[in-house]
Amino acid sequence: MYDYQYVYYKNSYLLRQLQYYPYVQLTVIAVFGVLAYIAFSYSKTAEQNRVWVGLAKETAHQLGTPLSSLMAWVEYFKSEPKLAEMGITEELGKDIKKLEMITARFSNIGSVPILKQERLYDVVQATISYLQPRISTKVRIEVHEESPGITAAINKPLFDWVIENLCKNAVDAMSGIGKIDVNISKGSEGKVYIDVTDNGKGMNKSSLKRVFQPGFTTKKRGWGLGLTLVKRIVENYHQGKIIVKSSVVDEGTTFRIVLRT
Ligand SMILES: Nc1ncnc2c1ncn2[C@@H]1O[C@H](COP(=O)(O)OP(=O)(O)OP(=O)(O)O)[C@@H](O)[C@H]1O
Ligand SMILES: [Mg+2]
Repeated sequence: MYDYQYVYYKNSYLLRQLQYYPYVQLTVIAVFGVLAYIAFSYSKTAEQNRVWVGLAKETAHQLGTPLSSLMAWVEYFKSEPKLAEMGITEELGKDIKKLEMITARFSNIGSVPILKQERLYDVVQATISYLQPRISTKVRIEVHEESPGITAAINKPLFDWVIENLCKNAVDAMSGIGKIDVNISKGSEGKVYIDVTDNGKGMNKSSLKRVFQPGFTTKKRGWGLGLTLVKRIVENYHQGKIIVKSSVVDEGTTFRIVLRT
């Protein structure tokens, strides 16, 4: 008779394996949890993107029809000497240009925008020339270029929108008087910096943390959407970065955009 009997000096192999089982189980649960979280946040971002893009596309689309009709009317007015003399056609033409600009912005944000190498100084200067007469005469905006001819791949209508939003915020941070400097410079590894500096009221630490959050505003009539849009345009549409480079209460703020050449 070969009947074996085991005498264990320690826990059996099975029992030792069982010791680890709860850890394995917990790890599996944790992995599932993480995967579920990633899937959820991904679908949330995708939904947000769809809302942005859909709304923008629809706006551009709806603006298109009255705009082309207005353009036709202006052409007709031009042939009426009386109206042309009164300068009405010219003013109408300017408003139409502005509407066209808005439509271009919305239609670009509602599609995959085409990026083109542009001279940043020229693009920024054009936006500033448009903005300057529309803000207080006591706020001066200056554009500087570290070396001539700095270019970056940008979508002009969207980049205009970024500069306009940053400058408007800078103007709002001042009490009617002040100076805004836009500095264009080259960084390392083909990076290009666009710094927008104001000498406005600056931001405290808690504001600094929240500036890019949708809905964060300290203004009575603000929507808190300007910087959210700016961040979106710079990061999603230009693969760039935007940061608050510095902000000191009562001294001023510098926003830095980082793009690639
Ligand atoms: N240059 C700046 N100086 C000081 N504070 C600023 C500056 N830029 C932004 N902020 C602060 O960040 C907040 C958010 O700015 P954001 O542009 O997103 O919204 P908003 O200007 O309040 O409203 P809007 O949607 O009309 O742009 C502002 O309310 C302001 O408190
Ligand atoms: Mg704003």
